[in-house]
Amino acid sequence: MERLADKILVIDEGTTSTRAMLFAADGTVLGSAQRPLTQHYPAPGLVEHDAAEIWTLTLECARAMVEKAGGADKVAGIGITNQRETIVFWDRRTGEPLAPAIVWQDRRTADRCATLKAEGQEPGLQAKTGLLLDPYFSGSKIGWALEHWSQLKEAGAHLAVGTVESYLVFRLTGGAHVSDATNASRTALMAIGSSGWDDGLLDLFGVPRAILPEIVDCAGAIGTTDPALFGAAIPITGMAGDQQAATIGQACLSPGQTKATFGTGAFVLTTTGRKLPQSRHRLLSTICWQLNGERHYALEGSVFVAGSLIQWLRDELKLVAHAADSEALARSVPDNGGVYLVPALSGLGAPHWEPRARAAISGLSFSTGRAHIMRAALEAMAHQTHDLKAAFAADGADWQALRIDGGMVANDWMAQDLADMLDLTVERPAMAETTAMGAAMLAGVGAGLFASLEDAAAMRGAVDRFAPQMATDARGARLAGWDVAMKSVLGSA
Ligand code: G3P
Repeated sequence: MERLADKILVIDEGTTSTRAMLFAADGTVLGSAQRPLTQHYPAPGLVEHDAAEIWTLTLECARAMVEKAGGADKVAGIGITNQRETIVFWDRRTGEPLAPAIVWQDRRTADRCATLKAEGQEPGLQAKTGLLLDPYFSGSKIGWALEHWSQLKEAGAHLAVGTVESYLVFRLTGGAHVSDATNASRTALMAIGSSGWDDGLLDLFGVPRAILPEIVDCAGAIGTTDPALFGAAIPITGMAGDQQAATIGQACLSPGQTKATFGTGAFVLTTTGRKLPQSRHRLLSTICWQLNGERHYALEGSVFVAGSLIQWLRDELKLVAHAADSEALARSVPDNGGVYLVPALSGLGAPHWEPRARAAISGLSFSTGRAHIMRAALEAMAHQTHDLKAAFAADGADWQALRIDGGMVANDWMAQDLADMLDLTVERPAMAETTAMGAAMLAGVGAGLFASLEDAAAMRGAVDRFAPQMATDARGARLAGWDVAMKSVLGSA
């Protein structure tokens, strides 16, 4: 007999778009609805979102998928995955935002973080949170907002703060204030090894505990939607930050398995199991998932600019009309012609952590054409990933193979270039929406459709493989050229 509620609805709220996807329990994608999200850049280094827009778009996309499912009673559970670190401020009485959401890319707290670093606060923070003192993480952003936006103080006990999944759950349920452990682990306010919000860290950034959500598992009975939203209540049964969800969606479930997602930024995670890793080479330790209170960890390299570079080259420099044209343009020249592009458009993340760095295109001559610049832009993806690989290897977590996903990896040239520069087999699943897949797997476990994440991994489909082919000297020359370009960017920061 057909099970009544056997479909999974995923809400994937990314940096540049909001999407809902409908999955069957065997992994088949039954539908998808997507809307672009407005980016606000009020001044250099500042990046904001309108959380009201995030909510409206989410609801629109989710409603389209509930309709596709044939009604709320056909949906076994909702999985939520989201851009991490971005922080939302809202009124508990209405759910309405009280201020702009400060996006993960925003650098407004660079000076504050530099001061705390100079005071010697980084080692203690790293030991508790697995993170570093960088404006990327939510803690310094919350502290800044409380200091500068008077309406937040005025809201008093009505103020609620949380990352994007927390805001969406609040709106979906009509008032539950929770955050899953993976998202909470990116705030720099949580002691990820053993407990939850940490008083020392709350003091460091000036964040009162009362405004923060309760930290919960990534699967289970997280909440139930307000029946008025979809015609009937639907349980929310899975939740994780998008990079952790992609790690799960790539079935990197055993220690040592590694994925790289090339979305707005590029994020590489190697799972380390129950062991909390300690990086000595400027990587992050993070919670990969928490089930039944048990935490599984990962080592992470976060690169801030990947797909956003191609968007910028398209929209601002007009090198191509569509991002998908970048592959043909890069292939139209035999090499980069000596051009290197270091895409530090919002500073540099791992392993350099230099918020003041500015992007640079070097090696230009009259023979340089737009194809060389596009080629250098795509080559930068492999170079940035290679820098991470060196840091992972130095931390004792070298990669045996790399599972890639995200919007950019449909580009075969780039997938091959990654294999060549990393000198490693690169695996690309046919279904590249692994972030949504991971959220579906978690929601499936939480809804009781699967007994474990390992069982849920049966949802995944076929994989393409790219083997390294580049000659050693050509590879060495590329790496040497990149090193020179990167040193020059770091030297002028
Ligand atoms: O840490 C930021 C990350 O979660 C953003 O992901 O998919 O929007 O590039 P994405």
